[in-house]
Amino acid sequence: MVEKDKTYVVMGLLDQDSIAYAIGRTIESQGGKVVYTVQNERMKKLFIDSRRSKMTEDERAGLNIRFCDITIQDEVVALFRDIGPISGVVHSIAFANPQTCLGTEFHTDAVDDIKLAHHISCISLATVARFAQPAMAEGGSIVAMTFNTKYVFPFYNWMGVQKAALEALVKALARRHGRDHVRVNAVSAGPLATMAASKIPGFSEMANHWDRASPLPWDPVADKQAVANAVVYMLGQFSKKITGQVLYVDGGASIMGGDLLDHERAKPA
Ligand SMILES: NC(=O)c1ccc[n+]([C@@H]2O[C@H](COP(=O)([O-])OP(=O)(O)OC[C@H]3O[C@@H](n4cnc5c(N)ncnc54)[C@H](O)[C@@H]3O)[C@@H](O)[C@H]2O)c1
Repeated sequence: MVEKDKTYVVMGLLDQDSIAYAIGRTIESQGGKVVYTVQNERMKKLFIDSRRSKMTEDERAGLNIRFCDITIQDEVVALFRDIGPISGVVHSIAFANPQTCLGTEFHTDAVDDIKLAHHISCISLATVARFAQPAMAEGGSIVAMTFNTKYVFPFYNWMGVQKAALEALVKALARRHGRDHVRVNAVSAGPLATMAASKIPGFSEMANHWDRASPLPWDPVADKQAVANAVVYMLGQFSKKITGQVLYVDGGASIMGGDLLDHERAKPA
């Protein structure tokens, strides 16, 4: 549970399918206040004006949205300087050029693309922790989003490398920010239907793998809420002595040695 009337910054809103949006709505449902960040003005327009948007006018007006390109340090500094006291931050951001960093071939020559992917998907968490910490004078919680790094997945290539680095960074930041009473953790989600996922070549194969391997049934649309719930748990006081950890919310697929056999499959609910 998050704390009522406390403010949480949720970074990485693109559209209503974003994991960030599910997290923000869940925080609000528990009485917390949410400041969302989008990458830039164009992205905000896409979100608010999108014809796919199912939001009412009131819902649109009630959203507190700021801009923050996570690769521009000044924007991160300004965000946390101007926002007032906060109790937590969600880093729900990643990017890798699908042409060079993902796909059937493991490319090594597009070094600038790989560096950009690393900056956005990993380094930025440290930048956020550094400049968000002064806004959490009473302590707080930072949660990043990751994807199973115990195994290597087809097509996921350099993004898998970024996620492994991100998880190492979570531990390093947990050590650094313990003295500030700031916790740093990650939630490792199973495949979810979002814009970022739609750019991953072979995403449907990944989702099919989950269907074969997950002890609990996994739904890439409906289970976004279960992931959001776990993030909110990591933000709030019920997890107050947990730091430097990766919490798997993946139906259990990450512990499996081989696919489920027919007799092991869950019966339809
Ligand atoms: N969808 C999945 O299957 C899945 C599974 C596990 C983890 N994740 C992780 O969850 C997080 C959120 O992804 P999502 O699936 O909700 O997709 P999404 O496309 O909705 O969100 C990705 C966000 O990253 C933002 N972003 C990219 N570059 C940025 C920059 N320079 N500055 C600021 N923002 C930038 C995008 O604008 C977007 O809002 C990512 O870290 C992703 O790797 C996703």
